[in-house]
Amino acid sequence: MGKENDVVIRFDHVTKEYKLYKSERARFKGLFSDKVPHKINKAVNDMSFEIRRGDAVSLIGRNGAGKSTILKIITGVTYPTAGEVEVNGKISALLELSAGFDANFTGRENIYLKCELMGFTKEEIKRLEPAIIEFADVGDYIDQPLRSYSSGMKARLGFAISVNVNPDILIIDEALSVGDKRFRKKCTERVREIMSGDDITLLFVTHSLDAAMDFCKRGIVLEKGVKLFDGEINEAIDFYNARD
Ligand SMILES: Nc1ncnc2c1ncn2[C@@H]1O[C@H](COP(=O)(O)OP(=O)(O)OP(=O)(O)O)[C@@H](O)[C@H]1O
Ligand SMILES: [Mg+2]
Repeated sequence: MGKENDVVIRFDHVTKEYKLYKSERARFKGLFSDKVPHKINKAVNDMSFEIRRGDAVSLIGRNGAGKSTILKIITGVTYPTAGEVEVNGKISALLELSAGFDANFTGRENIYLKCELMGFTKEEIKRLEPAIIEFADVGDYIDQPLRSYSSGMKARLGFAISVNVNPDILIIDEALSVGDKRFRKKCTERVREIMSGDDITLLFVTHSLDAAMDFCKRGIVLEKGVKLFDGEINEAIDFYNARD
């Protein structure tokens, strides 16, 4: 990548519709015909924005506003119904606690599983492994199956992977909220350290406005899939608070 103002993520009139059917049966029929009655929920509605290299952006909005859907579109977990999406760079995403994890594998095995999904070779993962395990700090549980982890422990492992793989784009969805105070502090420090180099781009979703302010310079306020405000983080938070 070249200059500092390179566009890393671009949404151009992106819409994501979910079809809601009355029953599973209707949903199944709906796969083959548009005539089956259904409602449409626009989780993301004609959304446009650009995020540049080095930006730290928080998506702010109530439950169901469309934040996670946007992150899922960016990471390719789901696809838009309409519009264009451009992503340039290696993404490391912490979407849901269990995303990319297998409960029957140990923590260590899951590190390999997830990093392989991200496109790393075995040798590369071997080099990353010690830093990930140290950061996750789950002790002997690293060789226990993931189903024996508490949700906080899963979050730690997920976070440890995300921040130790040197991504171009770091995407974090609500992951900090399950960790305890000590781990949150460690994560905050780590994200700050990562962000002090200005090459990495951060996209951050949280209901903690303090954390958003801590990490991000820019805030995008969403409501029902629509972008209502896009600008300086303090102003975004004021805008959001004024609507509640
Ligand atoms: N797989 C799905 N099928 C149908 N509707 C969905 C699906 N995923 C999300 N939605 C709907 O899309 C809308 C946006 O959901 P999304 O998960 O993006 O919200 P969010 O802003 O992340 O909310 P939260 O703060 O609760 O995490 C919601 O109305 C939700 O019910
Ligand atoms: Mg969400």
